[in-house]
Amino acid sequence: SRQLSIADLYSRYKSNQPITMLTAYDYITATWAQEAQCDMILVGDSLAMCSLGYSSTTDIGLDEFKYHVKSVCRAQGSAFIVVDMPFGSFESSLEKGIETAISLMKLSSKVGAVKLEVGSSQSQGKLTDYSLRLAEELCTRGIPVMGHVGLTPQRVHALSGYKVQGNKSSADSLAIFETAQELQRIGCFSIVLECVPHKISQYITSHLKVPTIGIGAGNGTSGQVLVQSDMLGMLSGQVPKFVHKYGNFHKSSVEHIRDYIKDVTERRFPDNSIEGFKVKDEVWVDFI
Ligand code: KIV
Ligand code: NA
Repeated sequence: SRQLSIADLYSRYKSNQPITMLTAYDYITATWAQEAQCDMILVGDSLAMCSLGYSSTTDIGLDEFKYHVKSVCRAQGSAFIVVDMPFGSFESSLEKGIETAISLMKLSSKVGAVKLEVGSSQSQGKLTDYSLRLAEELCTRGIPVMGHVGLTPQRVHALSGYKVQGNKSSADSLAIFETAQELQRIGCFSIVLECVPHKISQYITSHLKVPTIGIGAGNGTSGQVLVQSDMLGMLSGQVPKFVHKYGNFHKSSVEHIRDYIKDVTERRFPDNSIEGFKVKDEVWVDFI
């Protein structure tokens, strides 16, 4: 089926239909999201922690990230595909950031946009975050950019941990709102709001003309995104409070594998009458 375009996403947004987004990290998980008809697939750098076993999203390299983007893009389906700009691949200069974005878009014609984490630092009443400038450079070059504000995991140390953002003071929440407005002004087609009180994300959403995609941001955003491995319970550990666990793949997978081990050790699998192959000509094996 034809891939959804930004215009298609906007018609959903305009008609007040929530936009659905889910992460995928490889061909299998992308195929599941595609078959379920998600509007958007995000190849998020949460891949590092939620599938590759790293302890931070800052640990993943650009090349290993790209390998996963390519496998996601091999899955058939209509989802609009957004890919993260991984930590370390864009910060050193605007030129480097632009080159990285182009190289991500070039991985597959199916990559529709890049996503960039943006902070809300201010100096003398002006927003000073570097990612704002890079987002603008990308937009002016016709590369669709999804902004990401609130909790930005690549900046976990700058933020002193994985915490709710914009909940301490009105200056705090205003800074997130102003950053989102600035992202809209410079041309971002959509903005992720992560771990922001629902009153704030609802307010931000109602004052923007681009769709907001929430995660841990309540139900007042224009759409939702979740990490697929969290919502399916693929790992054994705790998932964040804002995740609804729709499955427990970890538990059922371990159970299935234990069943397999038991069947092999007790010689129940393989069953020659079911999984076995017969010789055609019995004469051929008359040496047995
Ligand atoms: O990497 C990721 O999965 C993300 C989403 C949580 C928005 O950035
Ligand atoms: Na991310």
